[in-house]
Amino acid sequence: MPRIRTLVSILSAVFSAVTSSSIIYDGRVLFGVQSSSILPNSTGPFLTGVKGQNESATYYTTFLGRSALATPLWNKRGLPTEQVISIKIDNTSVFVPGGGPPQFGFRRTELIAQKDGNASQLDTEMEVGVSTFHFSIKQDASKPLNYNHEYQIVFIEPSDGTHVFGIQLGSPFTNPTGQLPAKNAHSFKVLDHALNVLFTTPFVPLLWHNFAITVDWENRTLKAAYSTEGLPLRAVTPTVANPTVAAGAVGDFHFGVLKLPLVNPQDSPADQGDVVHHGIQEGTTEGLLYSGVFVEKA
Ligand SMILES: *[C@@H]1O[C@H](CO)[C@@H](O)[C@H](O)[C@H]1NC(C)=O
Ligand SMILES: *[C@@H]1O[C@H](CO)[C@@H](O)[C@H](O)[C@H]1NC(C)=O
Ligand SMILES: *[C@@H]1O[C@H](CO)[C@@H](O)[C@H](O)[C@H]1NC(C)=O
Ligand SMILES: *[C@@H]1O[C@H](CO)[C@@H](O)[C@H](O)[C@H]1NC(C)=O
Ligand SMILES: *[C@@H]1O[C@H](CO)[C@@H](O)[C@H](O)[C@H]1NC(C)=O
Repeated sequence: MPRIRTLVSILSAVFSAVTSSSIIYDGRVLFGVQSSSILPNSTGPFLTGVKGQNESATYYTTFLGRSALATPLWNKRGLPTEQVISIKIDNTSVFVPGGGPPQFGFRRTELIAQKDGNASQLDTEMEVGVSTFHFSIKQDASKPLNYNHEYQIVFIEPSDGTHVFGIQLGSPFTNPTGQLPAKNAHSFKVLDHALNVLFTTPFVPLLWHNFAITVDWENRTLKAAYSTEGLPLRAVTPTVANPTVAAGAVGDFHFGVLKLPLVNPQDSPADQGDVVHHGIQEGTTEGLLYSGVFVEKA
């Protein structure tokens, strides 16, 4: 009965991957939780401040209730328990960091993992020893991306602004602008801290893409696992060195949509290199769907 054996091995792989005691942070939104009750004041598992300054968190981020299905990977007894998180950007998505000028080059909406209202405290808990960052991503057919642009969609950002690892979509920003869209624009790229591509896979419509990135915070290594839909996660890289991360660095765990601009030929050379504050944005409404976001000890 090969088919049954396959099913059993799939189930055991999935259930053995995570026991609730190993979960350090859970960003999966159970049915019944209203976005309006936790997002506006950043009271839930997400810090919601990275967004356009003039619209509410619930304008950019919504929980889809029963109208959409989350990744089946973490279903309990075959049944979904969590809602899909829809995250969008539009031309209002200009983030103004505390004390800094508006980031007119970017359009961005990101959720940041937090617990008890404190992302920094959570970072010190989930970024010690070895931990695995889980997240699942699906296209939002009603809010397509523009693959001529670079998107940074999941990353851990220490205070120096670098990324311990990152997930990128689209055409990497270049100055001057190269051929668009770039080769592999429609593929996810898992990047290490030095921006080497560790793994790439096409962003296929209609499928949930499940990622698990294991970070060894002491020995500074990364390892990526991946699957689609309900298939068990499989390692897609060996354990690889990530030596350029600053020793002891921890950083906020972001997921969402951060869209880089294209170079504006009419800008000064200095401004052309300042992607944060300058460049071309079309102002379109774009988005991604997330589910299965959590962090476990590994
Ligand atoms: C959120 O904060 C605002 C302003 O401080 C307050 O008026 C409102 O009652 C809070 N909402 C919730 C749901 O806590
Ligand atoms: C937000 O509103 C302020 C005040 O009206 C305005 O100066 C600013 O340009 C707006 N920001 C964006 C991104 O539209
Ligand atoms: C959040 O956690 C950090 C790091 O542990 C701590 O320094 C800070 O005081 C905490 N903030 C609040 C508001 O509790
Ligand atoms: C780091 O590497 C050393 C030597 O290989 C090993 O003993 C230690 O357990 C590793 N630390 C972690 C957190 O994996
Ligand atoms: C988008 O916003 C920028 C900055 O506020 C503005 O200069 C531009 O005209 C807007 N574009 C569109 C298409 O509305």
